[in-house]
Amino acid sequence: MSGKLHFDTLQVHAGRSKDQSNGPCVTPIYQTASFLFDDVSQAADIFALKRDGNTYTRLSNPTTETLERRIAALEGGTAGTAVASGNSSQFITFQQICRPGDHIVACKSLYGGTFNLLNQTFKQLGVDCTFVEGSPESFEKALRPDTKACYVETIGNSDFFVPDFDAISGICSKAGIPLIVDNTFGGGGYLFRPAEHGANVVTDSLTKWIGGHGTSIGGILTDAGNFDWGNGKFPQIDSPCESAHGLNFWRKYGDRAFAVMAKEIGVRDWGCCISPFNAFLILEGVETLSLRMQREMDNAMELAEWLEKIPKVESVNYPGLDRHPSHTTAEKYFRNGFGAVMSITLKGNREQTAGFVNRLQLISHLANVGDNRTLVIQPAATTHAQLDGEELHAAGISEGTLRLSVGIENIEDIKADIEQSLEKL
Ligand SMILES: Cc1ncc(COP(=O)(O)O)c(C=O)c1O
Repeated sequence: MSGKLHFDTLQVHAGRSKDQSNGPCVTPIYQTASFLFDDVSQAADIFALKRDGNTYTRLSNPTTETLERRIAALEGGTAGTAVASGNSSQFITFQQICRPGDHIVACKSLYGGTFNLLNQTFKQLGVDCTFVEGSPESFEKALRPDTKACYVETIGNSDFFVPDFDAISGICSKAGIPLIVDNTFGGGGYLFRPAEHGANVVTDSLTKWIGGHGTSIGGILTDAGNFDWGNGKFPQIDSPCESAHGLNFWRKYGDRAFAVMAKEIGVRDWGCCISPFNAFLILEGVETLSLRMQREMDNAMELAEWLEKIPKVESVNYPGLDRHPSHTTAEKYFRNGFGAVMSITLKGNREQTAGFVNRLQLISHLANVGDNRTLVIQPAATTHAQLDGEELHAAGISEGTLRLSVGIENIEDIKADIEQSLEKL
């Protein structure tokens, strides 16, 4: 077929391999650790990266490769590298770009796991990170000669801050460094495609909306194919690589050099491959991504407006609401909605809020987002329990705050569950 296919079509078809034996309709699970060679010369060529082929599932696997091609198509990139988790996709991305002595500028509105990764683990590896409030000016001011990347989330996980992607990517390209965007809350490109707004590498947790069923942990990085890795700042990509038979990734692979290097060096050496079974389960999920996410975002919008009118609810924090500080930016960049996660603050103390959670019958109490089910968690008692009152306040969290990830259930049933529990608050 000629012409550009739509997201809904790509999520079912993109990346399917044509050479699967026996003609399966669905990409099968290649549940194998290693692959047979035809002869020694073929084995030698594959090892030397002179020809494509599978050797060992830590390095590549046909099920995983279908997933990589599909997400790359959905995100509008040139190639993807799937890994064991969303966290691994960030780790491999930062680690491939930065060397000891380098520096990253990151928006402070971040998933806690990423904050720890940059604030602790990468500092131990000799890579410094400055956290900024998120405006384009704050990024520009924090740049240093040794800065090698800027990093933002599509919708900051937990305060729902939406960055001005065009302006920040402009600052990055002027500085000759890549913009990395964690698009986990952007639903693999359905809500937002960072690559169309100057992002150079996009990371996704596959565990959330892309998989959707809450069965499997996985992650992926997508090469947007739009960065000049040969600008002199990244010799690890644009010079002969000692641990890859002297290969120059940039010269050989061009607009997919970063994804190839992340796999051939990053995943090979750090070992964080995704299992073929998880890749298969996530491929099952991705086929319905747009349908699920649209329903969840429609439910979230209706729920946010409904909750705002309830006297026992002190506040609702959702970028879809007019008065949210990021509403205008979200309207500028997002299509189809405003995401499916919000936080609400009840008029109650820590114990009363915990009581509200304990009485819920339909809504699942757990630490995740992007599941088909509606999920709730009380940050002050769990994800942010280590913070004192002042720190909680600085993070925009109070004892009565709850995070809600809205699912695909009938909206009336979600409201009814909240209503029955609120009655006793
Ligand atoms: C925005 C964001 N990025 C990355 C991750 C990490 O993903 P994973 O749990 O798959 O490692 C999470 C997890 O909640 C997240 O919310």
